[in-house]
Amino acid sequence: EPSQPDHDHETVDVLVVGSGIAGCAAALGAAREGADVLLLTKAERPDGASTDWAQGGISTTRGDPESLKEDIIAASDGTADPDAVDVLVENADDAVEDVLLETLDIEFDETDDGKFDYTREAAHSDYRILHVDAATGTHILRPFLNYVDDHDRIEVRQDTAALDLITHEGRVHGVLSDEMSTGRPIFAGTTILATGGIGALYTRSTNPADATGDGIAMAALAGADVEDLEYVQFHPTAYDGETPFLLSEALRGEGAVLRNGTGEQFMDDYHPQGDLAPRDVVARAVETEREETGEVVLDVSPLEFESEFPNIAEKCSDRGIEGDEIPVAPCEHFLCGGIDVDDRGQASLDRLYAVGECARTGVHGANRLASTSLLEGLVWGLRAGEDATGTEPEPVEAPELRNSDPDLPERFASEKSIRLKRTMDEYLGLERDPEEIARANAVLRRLKGEVDAYVRTRTARDLYELRNACVTALLIARAASENAESRGCHHLVTDESTTIEPAVDD
Ligand code: SIN
Repeated sequence: EPSQPDHDHETVDVLVVGSGIAGCAAALGAAREGADVLLLTKAERPDGASTDWAQGGISTTRGDPESLKEDIIAASDGTADPDAVDVLVENADDAVEDVLLETLDIEFDETDDGKFDYTREAAHSDYRILHVDAATGTHILRPFLNYVDDHDRIEVRQDTAALDLITHEGRVHGVLSDEMSTGRPIFAGTTILATGGIGALYTRSTNPADATGDGIAMAALAGADVEDLEYVQFHPTAYDGETPFLLSEALRGEGAVLRNGTGEQFMDDYHPQGDLAPRDVVARAVETEREETGEVVLDVSPLEFESEFPNIAEKCSDRGIEGDEIPVAPCEHFLCGGIDVDDRGQASLDRLYAVGECARTGVHGANRLASTSLLEGLVWGLRAGEDATGTEPEPVEAPELRNSDPDLPERFASEKSIRLKRTMDEYLGLERDPEEIARANAVLRRLKGEVDAYVRTRTARDLYELRNACVTALLIARAASENAESRGCHHLVTDESTTIEPAVDD
């Protein structure tokens, strides 16, 4: 039963949920406008955010916004929203200059003569990406988090999760946090979701395990519009081993090449841009060649691997990978769709914003261009933060979550999570068959029902994360089943011989 929050609660001007680049930028944008900001993060250290794991870099326009715009739209197979892309490219260089260079003083790699050492990634027609080694995200996020943490108007609260949005008559009033077992109301003038992606919905992902789709699920459950969720991007070159890790596209941008199991370079057979074709094309080609020739490797012999990419070289050496040929396979990397927002990050519900990977701005369409996600998080984060100020928090009736049933079966969350991942791997991966998508919908609906039964009785964080993963997975499956057009990351195949194994169902 809803009740007036007579117990412990708090109020804040702007509440940001999530501590990647988009959340930090939103906090900064709002604080600069004079708002008091609370930033909640589930993580205890910055590496809970995907930003910390971002390698390749952050794109600039290098003075030619039109050319970057063309590349973004081409990589999306013509599906990106040109107006959203304009917002991105027109604000890109100013945001990088203002926040990353002037405010945070980040030292991007330079050439011997003291100029920026711009790199290139797939489907970019120019060298325009700023980077620090291939550990760009870490070098941006850590100083950014320190900066916002030190800011007088911003409080960063670690190890605190938002469980649900508080809504009243179509307006969002904040969140219930997990600081109390029945949910602790935090009332905010505006709420900005910056919760990142969905890597935890798949067995193999380049994201941290925290990426459980929280913001998307919370927003959708509150009635916000979501869009383009079928476009799940797979990175073509993750290490093909037990603990996959990213082998940045910048390696190919600087000359590394893909070879199949017979040692041949194959990408020219698939696309005129060869090894630097759009990511969805390369990922499918890698998968095809793995099936037909046994394996695909990334040949880094054209590079000075250890000196040009020390961070990746160290990861390889830690795993005992020797020589110039690194076995690779595609793996889940980025969700192009998300909570539908406008050019300032405003979602369809009053006083709710979303920024970064959990948001759908229209910039990525059906397939994102490399090194535009840190940029999108920075640009939209700042814009949303600036826009979100000026409304007072209004404490309203907030639901009290139940925390009554201690008898949760042992390993319930981990077992259901494995079933979820296997369903997504099998039916909503790189290639999708309409019959299999329908099957996924049925399996996920059942799974969500089982998880909901416990979420209604317990407020454990891992249960809420599992609920969020189930809700987001189901939204992805629904979006996939409603889109009959095979495009970008939603690649449809119809295989008459496909037999649908019930294995993932039990
Ligand atoms: C990479 O370094 O290959 C990833 C870059 C990106 O996803 O934008």
